[in-house]
Amino acid sequence: MKTILEAMKWRYSTNKFDTNKKLSTEQLTELLEAMTLAPSSYGLQPWKFIVVTNPEVRAKLQAAGYGQEKITEASHLIVFAVEKNIDDKLVDTYIQSVSDTRSVPVENLKGYEDMIKGAIARQTNEQRIEWATRQAYIALGVLVVSAAQMEIDVGPMEGFDPKKFDEILGLEKLGLESKVVAAVGFRSPDDPSIQYRKVRFPKEQVVVEIK
Ligand SMILES: Cc1cc2nc3c(=O)[nH]c(=O)nc-3n(C[C@H](O)[C@H](O)[C@H](O)COP(=O)(O)O)c2cc1C
Repeated sequence: MKTILEAMKWRYSTNKFDTNKKLSTEQLTELLEAMTLAPSSYGLQPWKFIVVTNPEVRAKLQAAGYGQEKITEASHLIVFAVEKNIDDKLVDTYIQSVSDTRSVPVENLKGYEDMIKGAIARQTNEQRIEWATRQAYIALGVLVVSAAQMEIDVGPMEGFDPKKFDEILGLEKLGLESKVVAAVGFRSPDDPSIQYRKVRFPKEQVVVEIK
């Protein structure tokens, strides 16, 4: 298995995918599990990972994604969406899940529950969605790194019309909004981007040490 650094150097944002190579069920399951294990603020996991395989739906999404070919050509397309209504109900569901998982009575979690509900109440709905979006990006980061370790390629995308994506995927009625997208599969040897050297600022320019 590649080390993290080997994986990070191997990976690149893939533009052209091999249309004949598909992720196995095991690979997809492993990636989705890694994403669900991503950390989130308070542990609330305000995300949904929408796996789109239907070719007709993906053709529509491509039109709403500035024609990016990876939307239809990659093995799988994962749309990261967030809950539009982050309210006490989500907190209650989470607290129940903590209680069930750790065998702790819900009453013993009251302090934590009130703290989260208080923090949410102090935000506008727009701020809550913004907060949820930040959590979704953590899951995207986990996908990018996990996939690279498994020698699976990812093309992350912000270049799409979220409103049109929501409409095509019927997210409105699920109370969700799409935020970021990842094409997942295997690079085509013809992808011109394979040969591009990584452009990164030197560490000295990026890392600030305060001693
Ligand atoms: C959140 C995010 C959104 C991105 N959106 C797009 C996109 O819509 N289309 C695209 O071709 N590349 C997109 N990229 C790829 C970046 O351009 C790429 O990560 C960056 O140039 C660094 O190159 P590398 O990922 O190959 O190391 C996106 C990357 C990230 C992390």
